[in-house]
Amino acid sequence: MDYQVMPELGEEEYRELKEDISQRGVMVPIEFDEFGNILDGHHRLKICQELGIKEYPKVIRAGMTEEEKRTHARKLNMARRQLSQEQRRELIRQQLKETPEKSDRQIAAGLGVDKNTVNKQRKVMEGCGEIHRVSTTVDTLGREQPRRRKPVTIFNPSKREERAIQNPAVVERMAEGGSAITAAKQIAREEKAERKQYTLPDELPDDVCKLYTADIRGELKMIEDESVDYIITDPPYPKEYVPLYENLSRLAHRVLKPGGSLIVMVGQSYLPEVIQLLGKYMAYHWCLAYLTPGGQSPQLWHKRTNTFWKPVLWYTKGDYTGDYIGDVLKSPPNDNDKQYHEWGQSLGGMKDIVERFTNPGNTILDPFVGGGTTGVAAITMGRKFIGTDIEKDNIEITKKRVKETYARSQARKNGVAG
Ligand SMILES: C[S@@+](CC[C@H](N)C(=O)[O-])C[C@H]1O[C@@H](n2cnc3c(N)ncnc32)[C@H](O)[C@@H]1O
Repeated sequence: MDYQVMPELGEEEYRELKEDISQRGVMVPIEFDEFGNILDGHHRLKICQELGIKEYPKVIRAGMTEEEKRTHARKLNMARRQLSQEQRRELIRQQLKETPEKSDRQIAAGLGVDKNTVNKQRKVMEGCGEIHRVSTTVDTLGREQPRRRKPVTIFNPSKREERAIQNPAVVERMAEGGSAITAAKQIAREEKAERKQYTLPDELPDDVCKLYTADIRGELKMIEDESVDYIITDPPYPKEYVPLYENLSRLAHRVLKPGGSLIVMVGQSYLPEVIQLLGKYMAYHWCLAYLTPGGQSPQLWHKRTNTFWKPVLWYTKGDYTGDYIGDVLKSPPNDNDKQYHEWGQSLGGMKDIVERFTNPGNTILDPFVGGGTTGVAAITMGRKFIGTDIEKDNIEITKKRVKETYARSQARKNGVAG
């Protein structure tokens, strides 16, 4: 976008400006819109580049319409530069051509000139047909064309502020008061809260929870390519199961949507091998700590360790662009529920993981479903779930558990004792 409303400076004027900037630096801030387009100061910026000056006073005016930006640029030129009468008239004519429907008073206020001067130019232009006579004008309060949002101005913005105000919602919020960063944070929080909202239907729909008895080594062909948002799983930890982590990595690469995540609870004993195998088809992203406080801590006698946490490895397929995630997860104290599976995880802890990473409506897969903890967390939080396990019994237990838990939670919601 070009908001240069005046012709280029003459050679002599340019040389003088350059000399002045080289001695005193830039005295008048260079003005930009929120997208980095220059509103005022083309020559100053060019000179800075020629002189290698990187720091200069800067102003960002965000939330202006295209027309407001050009008017603003004209006003600054009117006020500052040594303009001849003809140059001033030219700027007024530009403005009249662009917004003939505005009143003389409104145009005069926008440019910082007298309204009679505007009126004189209007008559000349109407006389020679350059603009048409307009039957209605917008009053000075702009009541016929209410502005979409109030422009805001930021002096010497930081890079973070520059990024934040590219979002029109941030500019709108700033117009109510507050900084760009505060506005951006508030908006991000509100958007996240909205994304996390869900309501559950009374009956669990058939397609929300799919469960299959299947060995991951058979590649789980019933799951379509790129149909899953997140894999959240807890494979077996003993040594003989370590090769399965390569199967898991290959599966994740096939079934996850681009940008999807693989979240794996792992033991500590074979961590180097597990990390290496998971990284075969997926990109390592982060390692989170899953705290398991209370008296449930296993004692690893061969390592002489009492463990109160386990790693949760996070891999991605392509770039992750989701929410920020805090990297300490937690199960409630002593929440060591083994009634559905001898290796069962805490439901509270699994809900924490599902809540942080995923949004309602996402599809979550657990290919080592065990007693179904991931499935219960997913479906009671408005997500879709696919679960598989090599043991038929585990699938049957999970089916029953999911159905019963869902019915109980809906009965509680509807105030029915259950
Ligand atoms: C640690 S448990 C999962 C426990 C589950 N997170 C829970 O909270 O109940 C691991 C599960 O992996 C299953 N499994 C072991 N080998 C498998 C394979 N080759 N394919 C699929 N599932 C397998 C086991 O039957 C077991 O149920």
